[in-house]
Amino acid sequence: MTGKMGTAVVTGASSGIGAVYADRLAGRGYDLILVARNEERLKAVAAKVRDNHGVQVRVVIADLAFGADLVKVEDILRSDGTITALVNNAGVGGASPLLETDVEEMQDMIAINVTAPMRLTYAVTPAMVARGSGTIVNIASIVAIGPEILNGVYGGTKSFILGFSQSLRHELAGKGVAVQVVLPGATATDFWDVAGVGIGNLPSAWLMSAADLVDCALSDLDSGEFASVPSLQDIDEWNAYEAARQVMVPHLSSNTPGPRYTKKPAPVH
Ligand SMILES: NC(=O)c1ccc[n+]([C@@H]2O[C@H](COP(=O)([O-])OP(=O)(O)OC[C@H]3O[C@@H](n4cnc5c(N)ncnc54)[C@H](OP(=O)(O)O)[C@@H]3O)[C@@H](O)[C@H]2O)c1
Repeated sequence: MTGKMGTAVVTGASSGIGAVYADRLAGRGYDLILVARNEERLKAVAAKVRDNHGVQVRVVIADLAFGADLVKVEDILRSDGTITALVNNAGVGGASPLLETDVEEMQDMIAINVTAPMRLTYAVTPAMVARGSGTIVNIASIVAIGPEILNGVYGGTKSFILGFSQSLRHELAGKGVAVQVVLPGATATDFWDVAGVGIGNLPSAWLMSAADLVDCALSDLDSGEFASVPSLQDIDEWNAYEAARQVMVPHLSSNTPGPRYTKKPAPVH
């Protein structure tokens, strides 16, 4: 039997933000397909969610940076007609500057943070559009608009997620598929240790719990908010940023260079 909400696929559900999404979506009546590499941790999350909410939970052990595993998850998204939601959450970060970073690690980061969510979105979207319903949540980061804050490739991957989500929302408007992008600020998860920063180095005033982050993002989803930035105290700052972008977009192509390039007359001495 399928949960009343269908099935939600959550990537990176073995810890942190993804594990909270698993719990909250199950609480909303979704069955789950949980994806990550660490089998023991993923099965522990699955067991807890089953116990707490009584929904069906399947685990898929997959390294999303590895082509064959990614194809396995894409196949599930294409073929399982019960899937109604995808949370593209799996990701890795970094804080080191370019001159101190191994480029192969950056390549892997792009595979996990960019290629995987892009391909999973391509896999799930046609069926959602055909059905006229579905939900896609993409976990970006505040570094999407502040790429100077951490490692630059990490910032670039999250800018991709923001831009891809903006385009997706535009393309899917009126097709019944909800698209949301979430921009967490610093969140208290394993992310910081994996990124080599050590969470103890961050001021506690910056750190939100994963539970608060996900609950706020889901509340924004319920209200139809496309971009969710739970740590931003004054949402008018985001609205002004978005409004400035909308003002500029129609002016970005022209057959004439801007007037600032017009030759100025030589100064008369
Ligand atoms: N924590 C923050 O401050 C923060 C801020 C902004 C955005 N974010 C974003 O939030 C998302 C979740 O991160 P988190 O904070 O919850 O950190 P986390 O606890 O380290 O969780 C990351 C998840 O991604 C999975 N993952 C990593 N590499 C993978 C791979 N190659 N294949 C499959 N799964 C993989 C991990 O599972 P396995 O190790 O079991 O594979 C884990 O479940 C990420 O996209 C991150 O960029 C986090």
